[in-house]
Amino acid sequence: MQLWQVLSAVFLACALALLPLGVDCDEQQLREDKIVVVTVATKETDGFKRFMRSAKHFNYTVKVLGRGQKWKGGDYLSPGGGQKVRILKAALEEMKDEDKIILFIDSYDVIFASSPKELLKKFLQAQHKVVFSSETLIWPDRHLEDKHPHVREGNRFLGSGGFIGYLPNIKRMVAEWTGEDDDSDQLFFTKIYINPEKRKSINMTLDSKCRLFQNLHGALDEVVLKFEDRHVRARNLLYDTLPVIIHGNGPTKLQLNYLGNYIPNTWTFETGCTLCQEDLRPLGNLKESEYPLVVIGVFIQQPTPFVTVFFERLLKLQYPKNRLKLFIFNKEPHHEREVSSFLQEHGSLYLDVKFIGPEEEMDGATARNLGFDMCRKQKDCDYFFNLDIEVVLKNENTLKILIEQNLPIVAPLLTRSGRLWSNFWGAISAEGYYARSEDYVELVQGRRVGIWNVPYVTSVYLMKAGLLRSELSDDDLFHSHSLDADMAFCERVRNKGVFMYVSNMDTFGRILSTENYQTSHLHNDLWQIFENPEDWQERYIHENYTHIMKDKLIETPCPDVYWFPIFSDIACNHLVEEMEHFGKWSGGANVDTRIQGGYENVPTIDIHMNQVNYDKEWHQFLLEYIAPVTEKMYPGYYTKAHFDLAFVVRYKPDEQPFLRPHHDASTFTINIALNQRGPDYQGGGCRFLRYDCSVEAPRKGWALMHPGRLTHYHEGLPTTAGVRYIAVSFVDP
Ligand SMILES: *[C@@H]1O[C@H](CO)[C@@H](O)[C@H](O)[C@H]1NC(C)=O
Ligand SMILES: *[C@@H]1O[C@H](CO)[C@@H](O)[C@H](O)[C@H]1NC(C)=O
Ligand SMILES: *[C@@H]1O[C@H](CO)[C@@H](O)[C@H](O)[C@H]1NC(C)=O
Repeated sequence: MQLWQVLSAVFLACALALLPLGVDCDEQQLREDKIVVVTVATKETDGFKRFMRSAKHFNYTVKVLGRGQKWKGGDYLSPGGGQKVRILKAALEEMKDEDKIILFIDSYDVIFASSPKELLKKFLQAQHKVVFSSETLIWPDRHLEDKHPHVREGNRFLGSGGFIGYLPNIKRMVAEWTGEDDDSDQLFFTKIYINPEKRKSINMTLDSKCRLFQNLHGALDEVVLKFEDRHVRARNLLYDTLPVIIHGNGPTKLQLNYLGNYIPNTWTFETGCTLCQEDLRPLGNLKESEYPLVVIGVFIQQPTPFVTVFFERLLKLQYPKNRLKLFIFNKEPHHEREVSSFLQEHGSLYLDVKFIGPEEEMDGATARNLGFDMCRKQKDCDYFFNLDIEVVLKNENTLKILIEQNLPIVAPLLTRSGRLWSNFWGAISAEGYYARSEDYVELVQGRRVGIWNVPYVTSVYLMKAGLLRSELSDDDLFHSHSLDADMAFCERVRNKGVFMYVSNMDTFGRILSTENYQTSHLHNDLWQIFENPEDWQERYIHENYTHIMKDKLIETPCPDVYWFPIFSDIACNHLVEEMEHFGKWSGGANVDTRIQGGYENVPTIDIHMNQVNYDKEWHQFLLEYIAPVTEKMYPGYYTKAHFDLAFVVRYKPDEQPFLRPHHDASTFTINIALNQRGPDYQGGGCRFLRYDCSVEAPRKGWALMHPGRLTHYHEGLPTTAGVRYIAVSFVDP
């Protein structure tokens, strides 16, 4: 590019910025530099930090007033804010530069969506010396409605949460302030505005069409996200404007939190999450003894499947155990066995353990308060990590990852297997319950990845201990007359202006369904194949099962007999123990009232799956895990895995050691070895007479699959010592 081209490009850029005639680029820059953002913030809330981040992004010059002062100006539910005017008035008296342009705005609930340049341009276009934000709703004094000048289009009422103007005009305006700190600032400015003389002399107007300021209260339906290149704005659909400043005034804080997940560049399609990389607390270089101290609160409040697995995962969590303390609350007598065996075997690895059992008859909210207390009252506690028993944390680094994000409260996003059900809400209904945010599905399905400011998290979250000693120092955060404990807690967190985030930066795990969990059996988890299929598979299906197809692990020990791993060791043990626990083994006689016709040709000592109410689950197992193998090995044969007979057989030298040759009443038969030759029994096996071929060393957890009729006449070889168990299914009789 030639120099003249560069210069004309610059010229064009300036011209396109629609500068008022006669203002050149340098002058424009000078005037931008004249803008000073003034805000009153007595505390550095999470909202304030978000405001400052957006201001920094656009290089605004910000002057923060009132730091460390006690806030007496009320909250959004009652008028107030006089303190802000008093503080502003005092500060302006110090400022001398007469052509300064002052932007006075709130900061806890405000985000910048664009640059000082655009702000200046729009301010100049308003052609007044002071421009106030506008509102659709009149507040706090409705009787003043008639006194407001009519506007041709746009909002008619003044909002005091944001205004911009020249220093002398603003000075004159606030000079009149003589009110108390808890008087209404909005009423004060409104009275100036509705007074025609004052309005004229201060040269004051409203930004009625939200070109500069967007107040969200009363305008939620008007405002949508607008994605630009590496940049996100809010668009006002009613006036087709792109406001520079977004203000979550009144009860619209949560909507602002939602918008703030994107605006101005928190998350964009081009960059993904930018916030996620900022202000981290890396643990990488720390010695183990320097790790932050975490109290992990484990809460068991209902019968829950796979509790043993939960504790196995807790043990495997990647974190120095001498920097962890456990607070375990178990309300369920049903789970005492699992909890106490974990504590006996591993409790001493942890720095400290506090345990509350069912005999204390404590309610969940009280227990959660006590859990917080364990962290709050110990000065060295840095974090509280809440872990409800239904949480399946597959990612062993979860705790470290969350600590490194360095957020006040952050939850790893978990969902129920294959469903949209998760451990966070994207929005809240007017009644305080679940509502779906526009981006909920994208977040749950991981199509937008980042950390997200949300109004409700549950089941698993990490909280900075500092909060428990400041904003959340109330020793009862969980009880409520109308809300569940977790909802009550989140409501209090929100009311304190503390941000809760959910992260889907990594995959963390899932959340169990505890519905339909029966506790009437010995190993109730066996029945979870429908409710929690993924967890069932991980626990009970052989670790090599999924490889068998692709790695050709299916062996053929005899013609048309296939042999493959199917059950984990634990599945085998649980099934045998369940049957022995039930104990009603058949006598091995030909007469058998359990079957159709009442006569069994080749009887065994056995228990049928339906006797322990396991037939539906067993059918699902055959359908999910056996049918695909069948269809692979006997091409062209499709099965719905129908069966009349499926049972566990017990072979014992002094009971029934073997089974004489027979055909099975099946198209094909599945025969799963449930224990181990050698340690558990001697002998055993299966011989196919037509081929004179035996499978003599059955492998625990492996299935034999063979045709039932005609070709595969077979016998059960004698068990010579110990006890042998097999699970047999006659499929498609
Ligand atoms: C803000 O200032 C920095 C350094 O002065 C500059 O690199 C950056 O481009 C500026 N950002 C904007 C949005 O003007
Ligand atoms: C307000 O100021 C503008 C210049 O910024 C001027 O053109 C306009 O006449 C003034 N309006 C009133 C009512 O004084
Ligand atoms: C799974 O296969 C691997 C590799 O062949 C083997 O080392 C491992 O022992 C198998 N797992 C089980 C439980 O048999």
